[in-house]
Amino acid sequence: MAAPVTKARAACLIGWPAAHSRSPLIHHYWLRTLGIEGGYNIEAVPPEGFAEFVLHLSDHGFVGANVTIPHKERALELSMPDECASAVGAANTLWYDGNALRSTNTDVEGFIDNLDACAPDWDAASEALVLGAGGASHAVVFGLLERGIKRVHLANRTLARAQALAGQFGAGVHPVSWESIDEWLPRAGLLVNATSLGMHGQGALELATNLLPPHAVVADLVYVPLQTPLLKAARDRGLRTADGLGMLLHQAVRGFELWFGVRPSVTPELRALVEADLAGA
Ligand code: ATR
Repeated sequence: MAAPVTKARAACLIGWPAAHSRSPLIHHYWLRTLGIEGGYNIEAVPPEGFAEFVLHLSDHGFVGANVTIPHKERALELSMPDECASAVGAANTLWYDGNALRSTNTDVEGFIDNLDACAPDWDAASEALVLGAGGASHAVVFGLLERGIKRVHLANRTLARAQALAGQFGAGVHPVSWESIDEWLPRAGLLVNATSLGMHGQGALELATNLLPPHAVVADLVYVPLQTPLLKAARDRGLRTADGLGMLLHQAVRGFELWFGVRPSVTPELRALVEADLAGA
């Protein structure tokens, strides 16, 4: 009698172009350390091929996927999103619930779980100041409101985008002009940079961090460089911080759990592995 064929479960990252991503490193680390036979591939899929690929994900050999630029909005349309992905307006994680292709946005829990890990009482803040109004900011603002932060001041270079985001999330979000940031810093128990400023090759984020209250927590979504000028200024002042790499690692947890059935941990060893990869990039 032929031996039964067992096929290892595999997930993938779908992007175009398939940018250099740290996700394979993260998921392979967990597969290896948890002793799970499985895989995580990178799939370069152009926009015109995305629907076919995603709607036949299991035929392509996958139990689920991460989705990145430029496919996150289309992924939402092609799947059954949870409340989180619907609210953010973009999906970054797909999995099967029976035959149904479901989606979520794990940036929300990655952002919140990283804050919980770095500054456990961060949510004592009643007011937060968020910079930026792009896709990343949507996830941050939704996470903060869901966690019960009463007032989120939202500053963006293009005020109309901050106003649009506030219109979507309601009275808890207060759009403010980029020029008025200094007025809001003293009230911010939490400051979040969700712009691309401070990222390697982009402009600097010039902020008067000395205006923040002494109990403030500062989070930056940028992780290249690992220590942004904003995080350095906050640390020099003795403020608690949460960095972009922490969010990246925490956002990967839920996908792995959905695909492979075990909730993995963000360990110092994993962090060191990804830090070394970033340093060599
Ligand atoms: P993501 O999906 O990663 O959030 P995005 O949608 O391109 O990316 O958003 C980038 C954010 O960085 C936006 O809030 C952008 O401001 P605008 O909406 O005015 O474009 C912000 N940003 C980029 N460059 C900036 C700069 N030089 N000064 C201020 N904000 C900037």
